[in-house]
Amino acid sequence: MYIIFLGAPEAGKGTQAANVAHQLNLVHSATGDMFRQAVEQGTELGMQVKSYMEKGVLVPDELTIHMVLERMSAPDCQPGVILDGFPRNIKQAEALDEALARQAKAIDVVVYIKVSEEEILRRLSGRWICRQCQTPYHSQNSPPRVWGKCDQCGGELYQRPDDTVEIIKKRLQVYFAQTAPLISYYTQAGKLLEVDGEGGVDEVGRRVILALRGVVTR
Ligand code: AP5
Ligand code: MG
Ligand code: ZN
Repeated sequence: MYIIFLGAPEAGKGTQAANVAHQLNLVHSATGDMFRQAVEQGTELGMQVKSYMEKGVLVPDELTIHMVLERMSAPDCQPGVILDGFPRNIKQAEALDEALARQAKAIDVVVYIKVSEEEILRRLSGRWICRQCQTPYHSQNSPPRVWGKCDQCGGELYQRPDDTVEIIKKRLQVYFAQTAPLISYYTQAGKLLEVDGEGGVDEVGRRVILALRGVVTR
């Protein structure tokens, strides 16, 4: 089972992808989380990607595609993967389709979480994420049980340096120019499921599960 979560910055991809991965017992592969972990650990990859992330632009395709395909080739990804934040442009989508086709596999479905720009800006300032496991929280919408600490692993919560009003403008520009064309790409492939991403975390979660029901049991 290969499921992609597609949507604008702050749409709730990470929140919903983690839930679906947990329910289906599949690996949740989030490119943004992997890059942030590499930056935190000061690895060579981290040093290569830091400046792109700080500016809110995409990391070069070669680095991104290589990292994702390598992760997907690991044994724990053989039953399938929940992809969050990848693919992010047509070139990445084609590379993914080709890599899966070489193993006689294919993307099953793409969950497109749709939110308005006003909602994106409302969510922006309240997001806190775990330094260790990257779980996202929101000071009002989904606060941790203990302020400043991750419910899952006890890690420290921090605010992403790209979650500023200035950088989100760039991230949105990049999203509309490079990522939004994937909506037609996957619609044409008959794989797109659109889900209204506004409403509480649980409410959107129920919509996602309902939308996936027919596909997952197929
Ligand atoms: P990435 O980390 O993927 O960021 P993004 O796409 O901008 O998406 P976000 O993580 O900001 O939002 P999300 O949809 O996951 O929302 P979340 O669930 O956290 O990418 C960061 C950078 O890495 C890029 O700019 C680029 O440089 C690089 N990169 C990553 N992938 C790449 C690729 N494939 N190619 C090249 N470069 C790449 O929710 C947001 C907030 O809202 C949280 O606070 C959450 O608690 C809250 N919330 C969630 N759902 C709800 C709800 N229903 N109601 C109210 N609040 C909610
Ligand atoms: Mg995310
Ligand atoms: Zn954590």
